[in-house]
Amino acid sequence: MSELFHSPAELKRMAAAAALTAVPSNCRLGLGSGSTAEIFVEELAVRVRQGLQVRCCATSERTARLARSKGIEVAGLDAFEGLDLTVDGADEIDPQLNLIKGGGACHLREKVVAAFSARLIIIADDSKLVDSLGAFRIPLEVIPFALPLVLREVSGLPGCRSCLQRRSESAPVLTDEGNLVLDADFGLLTDPGSLAIRLSDVPGIVEHGLFVGMAETAFIGTQDGVRILERA
Ligand code: 5RP
Repeated sequence: MSELFHSPAELKRMAAAAALTAVPSNCRLGLGSGSTAEIFVEELAVRVRQGLQVRCCATSERTARLARSKGIEVAGLDAFEGLDLTVDGADEIDPQLNLIKGGGACHLREKVVAAFSARLIIIADDSKLVDSLGAFRIPLEVIPFALPLVLREVSGLPGCRSCLQRRSESAPVLTDEGNLVLDADFGLLTDPGSLAIRLSDVPGIVEHGLFVGMAETAFIGTQDGVRILERA
């Protein structure tokens, strides 16, 4: 280990800076959400001021505002026929680069943008690496009308320990799409792919936060430098 101790914010910045090397000029780029993705936007803005040409689509209104405030061109998904690359954070990353996302309630747009991209790169500090997904509860974006049904159906799925509506200062958290967020605890997952299918089958869940087989590469900030993980 190097003698210099890096704070979590520094580890995120190391990962973000490393991912920037994977962004070619003229890239059609998806911008993620969350604190690590925002650091990436800051680093990207420096490169844009130096002449890097990119056209971006953001996964949240917050990221779009930040990027625009820093002089980065941001357009809606309809301005693109596809994206070359998306760079985003994650709440958990397993050895197969399956993810839990949605800690910031953005996983619906994050999954749409990632699916529209030829490549998904994840940036994170090493606290996000896990052997098995599931200590972080799985975020579910739910249309308000369906709330009672989704609570009942998800609570009845095998292995579900709890399913709770996310609140902030006692008010329901709302997504950029005006939907609600639930957090479901299934314990540590032995088969995230099967659970992903079951959750997708529940009417009223617009999207869940399991990203199975989507990420290709992860840049992980560690005390020893940046680790690059590739999906097998
Ligand atoms: C937002 C997300 C974020 O990428 C995830 O929560 C990680 O955030 P942070 O970089 O702040 O730890 O999925 O919905």
